[in-house]
Amino acid sequence: MAQVLEIADLKKMAQRRVPKMFFDYADSGSWTEGTYRANESDFQKIKFRQRVAVDMTNRTLASQMVGQNVSMPVAIAPTGLTGMQRADGEILAAQACEEAGVPFTLSTMSVCSIEAVAAKTSKPFWFQLYVMRDKDFAGRLIDRAKAAGCSALVLTLDLQILGQRHKDLRNGLSTPPKFTPHHIWQMATRPGWCLGMLGTKNRTFGNIVGHAQGVEDLSSLSSWTAEQFDPKLSWDDVAWIKERWGGKLILKGILDPEDARMSLKTGADAIIVSNHGGRQLDGAISSIEALPEIVEAVGDKVEVHMDGGIRSGQDVLKAVALGAKGTYIGRPFLYGLGAMGKEGVTKSIEIIRNEMDITMALCGKRDIKDVDRSILRE
Ligand SMILES: Cc1cc2nc3c(=O)[nH]c(=O)nc-3n(C[C@H](O)[C@H](O)[C@H](O)COP(=O)(O)O)c2cc1C
Repeated sequence: MAQVLEIADLKKMAQRRVPKMFFDYADSGSWTEGTYRANESDFQKIKFRQRVAVDMTNRTLASQMVGQNVSMPVAIAPTGLTGMQRADGEILAAQACEEAGVPFTLSTMSVCSIEAVAAKTSKPFWFQLYVMRDKDFAGRLIDRAKAAGCSALVLTLDLQILGQRHKDLRNGLSTPPKFTPHHIWQMATRPGWCLGMLGTKNRTFGNIVGHAQGVEDLSSLSSWTAEQFDPKLSWDDVAWIKERWGGKLILKGILDPEDARMSLKTGADAIIVSNHGGRQLDGAISSIEALPEIVEAVGDKVEVHMDGGIRSGQDVLKAVALGAKGTYIGRPFLYGLGAMGKEGVTKSIEIIRNEMDITMALCGKRDIKDVDRSILRE
C-alpha cells in the first residue's frame, strides 16, 4: 500500500476506490467552484511566525466545544450520503470519532439512520438538522436525536434551496444508484465498494425513507430538496427548534457579520462560519476570510466555530489563531472513508492531529488554549 502521509494521499486513494458519481459528489462545489477552491487556497495566504528556543515538552491539544471535552478542536462535519462513499460509512466514521475523542455530526441526509448509528456507538454524537416544509417531520427528527442521546444539534441555515453542482447533474447522481449501463460500469470497476454495499441494508436515506410521510423515492436529491426543504425558514424558526431540542444548539452556515449578530438573539451556544464547503453560493468569500470579521463582531458573546477548506493541522491552527473555538472537517474524512473505511477516517484525524501538534510547537506554544493571533504574521 502506498504511504499515506497527508490528506491528499487519502483523496487519491478514494478516487480509485469509490464510484465516480460518489467521489465527485464529495469533490465538488457549486457552479464555477470558485468558492470551493478559495476555501482551501485562502489558508495559504496566512503565515505563521516561527519561534525558537522555547520549551516544547508536554504539549496538549485538548479543549472544549460547546462545553464538551474534545481531544482537539476538530469535529467531523455533517455530510449527506456518507454511506455511499463506503458501506455503513456513517457508522464507521462515528466509531472512528469516538475512539479519537472528537465529535461526529450525523447529517439529516445520511444513509445510516440516527438509530442505526446509535446502536453501533457508545458515546453521544451530534445531529445536524435540515428544516423541511413538514414541520412535524422536522420535530420528529429532533425527538429521535434526543432519544438517541445526541449531545448537540447543528441547525443548518444555508441550504433552503440547493446550489447547482454540475458534476452531480452530469453524473446523474441518485441514491440508491441507478442501474444504467453507465452507472453499472462505474460500480463494476470498484469491486471492493460493491462487495461492501451487498453486505449492508443501509442504501438509502435512512432518516427519511419510511419516516417522512409520502416519501418513498428519494432518487433525485435535487428535486426532493426543492420540494421538501423549507424556503421560508426564518430566524423565528430557530426559537421553536431550540425549545423542542432543549440542549446545546449550534447554527451552521453563517458567513456575514450581520447574520452573526442576528444569531445572538436566538441564544444558540455556537455558530459555524461556513459556506457549506463552497457547495451553495458560488462567489461568496472563503470561510477563513470571513472568520476574523465574525469573531470581531460576536466572538465575545457566542462560541465561533468554522469549516471549509481545512486540509491540514496547519489550517486548523490558523483558524484557532483567528478566534475559532472549534473547527470541522468534511472532505478530509470522506476521502479517508472512501480510501480505507474506518481506518481511513482514523488516519485523516491523526494526520491532522499530528500536523497541528508539531506546527503548534514550532510556533512556540504548548497548549492549544494559548494559541492566538500572536502565532501569525500580521
Ligand atoms: C459531500 C458533502 C455533503 C455535505 N452534506 C451536508 C449536509 O448534509 N448537511 C450540512 O449541514 N452540510 C453538508 N455539507 C457541508 C459540510 O458540513 C461542511 O460545511 C463542508 O464540507 C466543510 O468544508 P470541507 O469539506 O472543505 O471541510 C456537505 C459537504 C460535502 C462535501
